[in-house]
Parts: sequence; C-alpha cells; structure tokens
Amino acid sequence: MSNTQPFRAHNFNAGPAVLPLTVLQKAQAELLDYAGSGMSVMEISHRSKEFDAIIQTAEADLRELLGIPSNYKVLFLQGGASLQFAMIPMNLLPAGSSADYIITGSWSKAAFKDGKKLGNVKKAADNESCNFNCLSEQFDLQLDAKAAYLHYTMNETIHGVEYNDTQPQAPEGVPLVCDVSSDFLSKPVDVSKYGLLYAGAQKNAGPAGVTVIIIREDMLARTPENLPVMLDYKLQAESSSMYNTPPCYSIYIVGLVLQWLKELGGLSAIEAINKKKAAIVYDVIDASGGFYRGHAAPAARSRMNVPFRLPTEALEEAFVKESKAAGLIGLKGHRSVGGLRASIYNACPMESVELLAKFMREFQTKQG
Ligand SMILES: Cc1ncc(COP(=O)(O)O)c(C=O)c1O
Repeated sequence: MSNTQPFRAHNFNAGPAVLPLTVLQKAQAELLDYAGSGMSVMEISHRSKEFDAIIQTAEADLRELLGIPSNYKVLFLQGGASLQFAMIPMNLLPAGSSADYIITGSWSKAAFKDGKKLGNVKKAADNESCNFNCLSEQFDLQLDAKAAYLHYTMNETIHGVEYNDTQPQAPEGVPLVCDVSSDFLSKPVDVSKYGLLYAGAQKNAGPAGVTVIIIREDMLARTPENLPVMLDYKLQAESSSMYNTPPCYSIYIVGLVLQWLKELGGLSAIEAINKKKAAIVYDVIDASGGFYRGHAAPAARSRMNVPFRLPTEALEEAFVKESKAAGLIGLKGHRSVGGLRASIYNACPMESVELLAKFMREFQTKQG
C-alpha cells in the first residue's frame, strides 16, 4: 500500500454526498475479508452472526447518539425517503381523519402530494408564494387539533431553509412526523417530541439504499390490516427490518458513519463544526455587497444546503465551470431554484468549505 493520501474531490454534492474518508478507508480495508469471515459484507447472509452484529451495533449507536427513548423502534428500510411519503399516510392516517402538512419547499410539497393520493391531507402552511425562502412562524400555522399527525420537513435540501433552534409544535395529542433526510445527525434532536422521524441515508448518514425510520411504538397500533407487507410499519418493526433481505452493505456503511460520529464527540460536537462551516459560506455571501444572493431569508438559513445566485446566469455558468476546474465539485444549483448550491454535510471537511469561500471571494474580485 502506498502512503500517499488518495485523491479526494472537494465534494459539495447534495446527495449522494461526501462520506468521511476514514469510513471509506475502513470499508476498503474490510472489503474482501470482513472480521475474519473471508467474505465481504456484500457476500454474507443477512441472517449471519456477522450481519446481526452489524445491524444491532448500528441501531445501538444510533440510539446512543440521538438519545432515542426505549419506547421507539428503529427501522432500516428501502425505497428512499420518497417511499415514506406514501407509507406515512398508509399507516398513520385512518379513514375519516385528516393530517396536516407544513409546506416549506419541494420535499414537503412532494410529501403532501403523495399524502393527497392516499387520504385527507390539509396544508397547515404553504410558503410557495414566497418562493420557499422562509419558514412559517408557529402562530401562522393552521393547525387542526384532531389531525392524525402534523408533517414537516426539517431541512429543505433544494431551497436551503432549515428549522434549527425552533421546531414547529403540534397541538396536544397530535404526533409530529418529520422528514430529517438532509439534516439527519447534523445536530441533536429531541426524539421524544416526535411520533415518527425518517431520513434517506445518502446525505449525512451513509450511501443510498437505506432509509432510517424512528417510530414511537404506539404509532404502530394504527397500521391497518390490509397493507402489503413491505409497506407495513408494524410488520417491519416485528421483523426488526429483516422481513426480507435488507440493504446490508448500506446499513454496514451507516454503522461506520455512526462510529465516526461517536469518535468525533457526538451530535453536539458535529453541530458546532456545522455552525462554523455554514458561517464561513454565509459570511462570504453577506460580505459580497449583493454579488452573491442567498436564496433563503437569513432567519431560515440551512446549515446543510446553501443555494445562492449571482448577478447573471452567464456568471453562474462561469462559476460552475471554473469551480469544477478548481476541484470544487457539485456546486450547480437544483434546476427549480437555479444558480449555485453548496451542500456542506457532516462529512464535508472544513478544508473544502474554506477553499470554497476563498474561491467565491476570488471569483468576485475577478469580475471587478
Ligand atoms: C428532504 C428530502 N426529503 C426526501 C428526499 C427524497 O429522498 P429519496 O431520494 O431517498 O427518496 C430528499 C432527497 O434529496 C430530500 O432531500
């Protein structure tokens, strides 16, 4: 083996996204022979003692990091966060009830759209009229005290708005259901406030292919009898996510990411780093005299995804091209917002963020 550092791009992709180098190195070291088995994790049975240890350790580490109370189940399912848009109403929205959705961007809008196909869902707020650049205040929410649940998206990956210090409150007795796909494990979260949390892994927690669901046990009683097995939370919980073959390798990598987070000092430690990284990028935007315009209103700024515009589309194109040539990858914005987007998830190193800030300052100076 050579001692030289491997070539690593400065990766600002929105997801799948950068993974910690040490996680990839551990996976590489264990690729051909996992724990003396003479097999890769991709080649062992999901019923083997090796995989049993992998999934159980991943769950225990997740419980420790997030402080998940004992009356919650952790599920590792497939189908992405998008499948949860359907599973949630299928399982948790009984006929004759309705559910409330706070719409703060493309992802909560997509969740609402699927909910509408499956039951009676209502908008507690819809920020599309302000082009999804802000978050609704609690007093602006139209909440039904009898709703089956209140759904929101903690971080809107495309529009770059994130609930940080204050989260929406549901009326007494109404469970909160939250899509945490793009800020999962980036900060502490009080799980006990939620009926269900879900996250596609491929931003902060690992590779694509596994979705983590954290569900309070009493919610499982709502699952109707007639659901296909793969869409049934109760059955998935009873089978400990092993009703069929789970996404073994993705779960293994999630386990390594959780160990990395524990070694780093846990979620408060990573939150402090994330605050610093986000401040570096927003400071450049704020000091640019309007050359860079952040999409999100300052009070709603995401620490994970920073969409921003330049004065012209021609300059935006030049920025994408030149940043790529400088080794900064994945900065083109989502087509629905345009411009640029820097995704600075947990595993995006401080060095990459500092280089981005330097590139932004120099690019502006060059335009004179
Ligand atoms: C906040 C949010 N929710 C849901 C999704 C959909 O995730 P998946 O591709 O895992 O279905 C995404 C994907 O980017 C997302 O960012």
